[in-house]
Amino acid sequence: MHTCKVPQLDARLAAAYAFVRAGRVAADIGCDHGKLSAALAGSGRCPLVLACDLRPGPLEKARVTCAPYGDKVQFRLGSGLAVLAPGEAEDIIIAGMGAETIIEILEAAPWVFDARYNLVLVPATKHSILRRWLARRGFALRGETLCQAAGRWYAVMNAQYTGDAREPDGLYCLTGLTQGQPGCADYYAVQNAKLRKYRLGLPDGAERDAVGELIAEMDRLAAG
Ligand SMILES: C[S@@+](CC[C@H](N)C(=O)[O-])C[C@H]1O[C@@H](n2cnc3c(N)ncnc32)[C@H](O)[C@@H]1O
Repeated sequence: MHTCKVPQLDARLAAAYAFVRAGRVAADIGCDHGKLSAALAGSGRCPLVLACDLRPGPLEKARVTCAPYGDKVQFRLGSGLAVLAPGEAEDIIIAGMGAETIIEILEAAPWVFDARYNLVLVPATKHSILRRWLARRGFALRGETLCQAAGRWYAVMNAQYTGDAREPDGLYCLTGLTQGQPGCADYYAVQNAKLRKYRLGLPDGAERDAVGELIAEMDRLAAG
């Protein structure tokens, strides 16, 4: 255990930290400031952390943050999971990117479609798109933590490949495993407002009706 103070994590990264399995090598994809990598290595939760980023500037910041932890953190410059050999890290965190970027990163690395990997995903936007993609591509949500950071709601997702691909319903896409969690009514109000806006843009027809039904279901859920 290191004696220097590990960085303070916001609620989002603290929830991601909690989903990383103790004793495993972790990869922090899009590490930027390097706080999560430093916390995982510095607390002793992970024997090795691979801190990875697309751009040299952020990776340099991570080097500075993680300097106290010596060779317990290694640095990789490049896009997504292309900087890793399959199996090099079994716990993979992708935090602070939009759902579409997270999906692109996962689609580009077919080796993560394997139950040995523990995925920790923190989409900055479009949570429902990521939940739908995970279900369709055979990943199960093992856990999900709703939290607020810098005044916004985040859903921190823990996913594992099962191979059981399914078409999720709309309510699952919007709420995942968040039902009953503190703050879920506020989160649903935000999700619901986005849904209403989306419905306004739809022409009359079956899709618009289906979104209307979903809105009614969300209203019932928010009313408890
Ligand atoms: C908003 S920061 C998030 C930092 C940290 N993960 C967090 O959640 O606080 C996003 C980081 O992802 C990096 N990034 C964007 N696309 C990437 C990709 N395809 N592969 C690796 N890193 C990427 C950016 O350079 C940036 O440093």
